[in-house]
Amino acid sequence: MTEDEQKQAAAEKAVEYIEDGMVVGLGTGSCAAKMVDLLGKKVAHGLYVTGVPTSEATAAQARALGIPVVGLDEVGVIDLTIDGTDEVDPEGRLIKGGGGAHLREKIVASLSDKMIVIAEAKKKVARLGAFKLPVEVIRFAAPALKPKLEALGSTPILRQGKDGNPFVTDEGNYIYDCDFGVIDDPEGLALELSTMPGVVEHGLFIGYADLVLIGTDSGVEVIE
Ligand code: 5RP
Repeated sequence: MTEDEQKQAAAEKAVEYIEDGMVVGLGTGSCAAKMVDLLGKKVAHGLYVTGVPTSEATAAQARALGIPVVGLDEVGVIDLTIDGTDEVDPEGRLIKGGGGAHLREKIVASLSDKMIVIAEAKKKVARLGAFKLPVEVIRFAAPALKPKLEALGSTPILRQGKDGNPFVTDEGNYIYDCDFGVIDDPEGLALELSTMPGVVEHGLFIGYADLVLIGTDSGVEVIE
């Protein structure tokens, strides 16, 4: 199976969990986009759901497919969120934010009764950290935060956009992609980053994933 087919298989399995009437958090990225495409087809065939997108890109995709989308002013609890990931370890801990949407993704996941993570096989890792950890920071603080992120043991690189300027998130912030190497203590690092003034959100998702669906050559691996 190609990586694309693995993503498709995981997305197909995930949409089986979507029931009529649900409020569904819609993730961001290429794997999540496949899930949104599949959901769009179901909606076209009569399924009624309300989508809560985690990025402007996903919102545009969902609207184009006829999926009703709302913001957090219109919903309280989200029944189910389905999102991709950049890494997942055996304990279901994630690194997310490769697409720069982890701030909204974490908020939506935190409001969800259940989070299903979908990915291709290469995202499954023994230990987190080969993927550079995205850390979203407010622009004002960015110069001051670089040495602080270095002091935590990382090599932070300010993410660049396609136009050669710093990448700006949907919430108007910058991202440092931080190379920590293998992350020995994800919980401890998450706490350090969460309590650093100027850091808006980091890409460590600990305790969020309820179910992980990995597309593999031998089918979809389900990790609970
Ligand atoms: C965006 C994310 C994505 O879910 C993550 O980057 C995975 O994306 P893809 O499915 O394209 O590999 O966290 O912020």
